[in-house]
Amino acid sequence: MNKKIDHYLEQIKVAKVGGGQKRIEAQHKKGKLTARERIEVLLDDNSFNEIGMFVKGKSSQHTQEERAILGDGVVTGYGKINGSDVLIYSQDFTVYGGSLGEEHANKICKILDMAMKNRIPVIGLNDSGGARIQEGVAALGGYAEVFQRNVLASGVIPQISAILGPCAGGAVYSPAMTDFIFMSEQTSYMFVTGPEVVKTVTHEDVNTEYLGGANTHTTKSGVADFSFDNEITVLQQLRRLFDFLPQSNISGQKFKKFNDSINRKIPSLNTLVPQDKNKAYDIKELILNVADEKDFLEVQKDFAKNIVIGFIRLEGRSIGIVANQPLALAGCLDINSSRKAARFVRFCDCFNIPLLTLVDVPGFLPGTDQEFNGIIKHGAKLLFAYAEATVPKVTLITRKAYGGAYDVMSSKHLRGDINYAWPSAEIAVMGAEGAAKIIYKNADEKALKEHIIDYETKFSNPYIAASRGYIDEVIKPDITRIKVINAFKILRNKDLKNPWKKHDNIPL
Ligand code: HXC
Repeated sequence: MNKKIDHYLEQIKVAKVGGGQKRIEAQHKKGKLTARERIEVLLDDNSFNEIGMFVKGKSSQHTQEERAILGDGVVTGYGKINGSDVLIYSQDFTVYGGSLGEEHANKICKILDMAMKNRIPVIGLNDSGGARIQEGVAALGGYAEVFQRNVLASGVIPQISAILGPCAGGAVYSPAMTDFIFMSEQTSYMFVTGPEVVKTVTHEDVNTEYLGGANTHTTKSGVADFSFDNEITVLQQLRRLFDFLPQSNISGQKFKKFNDSINRKIPSLNTLVPQDKNKAYDIKELILNVADEKDFLEVQKDFAKNIVIGFIRLEGRSIGIVANQPLALAGCLDINSSRKAARFVRFCDCFNIPLLTLVDVPGFLPGTDQEFNGIIKHGAKLLFAYAEATVPKVTLITRKAYGGAYDVMSSKHLRGDINYAWPSAEIAVMGAEGAAKIIYKNADEKALKEHIIDYETKFSNPYIAASRGYIDEVIKPDITRIKVINAFKILRNKDLKNPWKKHDNIPL
């Protein structure tokens, strides 16, 4: 009996070194952790239960020695993050470069199937050379099996990816279909075709970092949601995000004890909006001040900075924030900000996270670049997302709400539940100057000035909208936290359903 246990313990030892000590050292030299070390950092202490440790690769192309490797290049199992269940897979670069073969894919699929049956979130830690060359079409099929499960799980359980090494070719599409992507700076990259193919086809000279590194995907493409300069921080921040998310689309919200007052007034907000309406201010001041304990997790902070998205808590419960940012492009809506916010609104709606929308928007960004690249379809995404969302929606207009952008930003007309405005709000078809110039085309300079002042007095305020019921309440800025907490409290049992359909046809 003891011999059997000894043999069992020996096998575990073998499995745990994956591709061997030399390859582990090589991984560390690159500033990367191993698959198991990452799991240890990510999960609560001693909470990991491994599944499939003794799985072996199938390919007849592998040598005898290679076929003896246990786990087939991916560590899978379940554990806890701050006490909540999570399923996990972590690719082991020391085994065939973390490449995905048939059994490797089967292990990931098993995790995704378990996650779906039990309504538990999934985290994938990606570090892989892609499809395992020796396994050919079986590897390609394995990827597609994973993709299919990612799609069916979308909107049912949160799926989070961390890219901690290579992720190339079709392999990028599994993370792309998950809800959030983290990347480690300098040690990870994602692209469909690598630098050599790019050079051959388009003659561009690019390196992996420029083509698909963390900086590229968090600032230019918007593919990744978060990046940090080392893996430990990536994994710690992933835990932080996880805490804001529910376990599934049918579970209740997580509740976090908070050390803050629900009656907290914020006098500094009375002077947040500058007297000069063309002057910018930082909308994050408002977000941070309203949040429990000023805790705000910003998503995609370096992409499309003219809109701010992320999570706060009010009375200990998660709230999704969408806010125009006057500091960037005057807070206007453009293609990237519309795409960014639309996906976030849909995520929150999938997972029953209420939405707080903060509006200071002068309109859509004009120009050929925007029109040629389809601002009509992209802007419609945000409109569509707000219009279909059935979660509690609270809106606050701090300053400008002009034109179509007024409608889009969770207006009353798109089933906004409680719509507030500060006294500084200006709800109009456009700014006073633009409006006067159109209506009084032939007026001389002096007359035009008077018309502008006249238009401002008559239309650039929240009271016409409030008189029609499009604004429920004009509030003094310092009581904003109290008011939004009250609003979400009264909406806690909101029950609104959209008509049955197979699925909608959002403008893609
Ligand atoms: C099998 C692979 C592999 C792969 C790497 N390895 N990629 N084995 N299939 N796809 C093995 C290497 O042979 C090596 O084994 C070990 O992993 C580490 O690789 P190195 O090249 O030594 O490491 P490094 O210099 O860090 O380079 C990593 C790499 C490079 C950039 C990932 O290995 C590489 O370019 N690999 C090929 C990538 C690729 O083209 N994959 C297919 C993409 S297409 P030893 O024994 O020496 O340690 C794709 C399609 C998916 O994935 C389709 C889905 C629909």
